[in-house]
Amino acid sequence: NIPTPHNEPPLSYLPNSKEAKKLKEECEKMRKEIPFEVPCIINGKEYKTGNIKEQLIPSDHKNVICKFHQVSEELVQEAVKGALEAKKKWEEMSFESRAAIFLKAADLVVGKYRYVMMAATMLGQGKNIWQAEIDCTAEVSDLLRFNLKYIEEIYSNQPKINPTAVWNRLEYRPLEGFVLAITPFNFTAIGANLPTAPAMLGNVVLWKPSSTAIYSNYIFYKILQEAGLPAGVIQFVPGTGSMIGKILLKNKDLAGVHFTGSTAVFKHIWLESAKNTMSLYKSYPRIVGETGGKNFHFVHESALIDNLVNHTIRGAFEYQGQKCSATSRMYIPKTIWPEVKEKLIKEVSKIKMGQSDGKIKFKIKIQKDPTSFMSAVIDKNSFENIKKYINEAEKDESVELICGGKYDDSVGWFIEPTIYLTTNPKHKLMQEEIFGPILTIYVYEADKYEETLELCDQTSPYALTGAIFANDREAIDIAIKKLRQSAGNFYINEKSTGAVVGQQPFGGARGSGNNQKAGAIINLMNWCSPRSIKEGF
Ligand code: SER
Repeated sequence: NIPTPHNEPPLSYLPNSKEAKKLKEECEKMRKEIPFEVPCIINGKEYKTGNIKEQLIPSDHKNVICKFHQVSEELVQEAVKGALEAKKKWEEMSFESRAAIFLKAADLVVGKYRYVMMAATMLGQGKNIWQAEIDCTAEVSDLLRFNLKYIEEIYSNQPKINPTAVWNRLEYRPLEGFVLAITPFNFTAIGANLPTAPAMLGNVVLWKPSSTAIYSNYIFYKILQEAGLPAGVIQFVPGTGSMIGKILLKNKDLAGVHFTGSTAVFKHIWLESAKNTMSLYKSYPRIVGETGGKNFHFVHESALIDNLVNHTIRGAFEYQGQKCSATSRMYIPKTIWPEVKEKLIKEVSKIKMGQSDGKIKFKIKIQKDPTSFMSAVIDKNSFENIKKYINEAEKDESVELICGGKYDDSVGWFIEPTIYLTTNPKHKLMQEEIFGPILTIYVYEADKYEETLELCDQTSPYALTGAIFANDREAIDIAIKKLRQSAGNFYINEKSTGAVVGQQPFGGARGSGNNQKAGAIINLMNWCSPRSIKEGF
């Protein structure tokens, strides 16, 4: 029996605590040792292709956390061959033996490697201590442990009716072929989940990690190896997504894609795999994707304002607004807007923008403190993209700057927490995913509550997360109904971010993906192909 999982409790990292000291030491050590060199790992062997790319430190972009070797076309082909070879033994291994590897990996993540995972995520992906802790230790281990328990449930789901002289059963076979996992930078936990979930069910996986999260993902891969993952079961193939995708989507043994990233790339995967389905692949591939969001906080007059302000600041600005679930548009009734505005401005002014391991000097008011609420955005592309929205908003008469709006990339890619007010509820700031610390607010007439709920539902192509803030039960019930299809994760008087494994399965529909709920049975069912067996006696 798989041990019953519990959510791993995050540590507090209070100043002078044992864990805060250990983490500081690990960050200092890592700083001295950078840049690390990261190979591709195929069939258990390390490959240094010489085609090197750098992962920079977002808050200190003159420095490189690691130089990684990008996979070549030949190696991608080699990785498929090796994975299919490894599958022969892997799928025959008992579930208990496979599970033991991932359970051990979960223990290593929160035990022996806790601080190195933390330091790599903080330094490489620009997270503060607590954002790193809920991601690369708590959520990584939760996903591993809960997924195994859910797979046990899947396996135990057997036909209930066996007439005399008949034994009916279901065999949950892995897919025929390999799975491609493509993972994003913003959660080390998603990096860990997308390749391991299919592997737990006996599949083999080619894992293309994000180029801006390589180092933490590589450490996790090494943990899997230490936990006993056989060579070839998960192939670590960093490199260019377009090249890797092009080759693998054209491979006859492709059995599935487990993806988190942009809507555009997911659509491309969907179309490409559809084209190849009848002519090339053996089976219809399982395509699972979680893409973007334009997540909302919808506020009713009866909302408790301090709670709303607290949740909104956290939802919009934690991790610089780079969670797929980040709050990026808000609807507020006119009657309470003055009070909400005043409180938002006051709270935002207290936000410290720091750097993720406290090592560099800043020319601007950014503080060098790993406990700061915010740090830099992930890379230059992202910085430039967010800057574009800010520069455009400055010239736009339908938009008013409430606070923030400044940026500085002299040391790291820093963008202030920024709030806009717009008179145009369909403004692109209300529709497009920005993936940065920008929140746009639309103020509505309080007596137009239901119409504005409809407007909220129809404004953005996404439907990932959203929240209603109200104290009036009837208002809550109306919002639950009107916003039924607007979010795959819906919150009542809680921010739009922070889903916990085992508590709120995560994912959305419409432009946000095909809602296969990461870390849940619905997701895991994609990675098996059941065979019904009837035996007569
Ligand atoms: N699961 C994360 C959250 O809910 C987003 O990926 O914030």
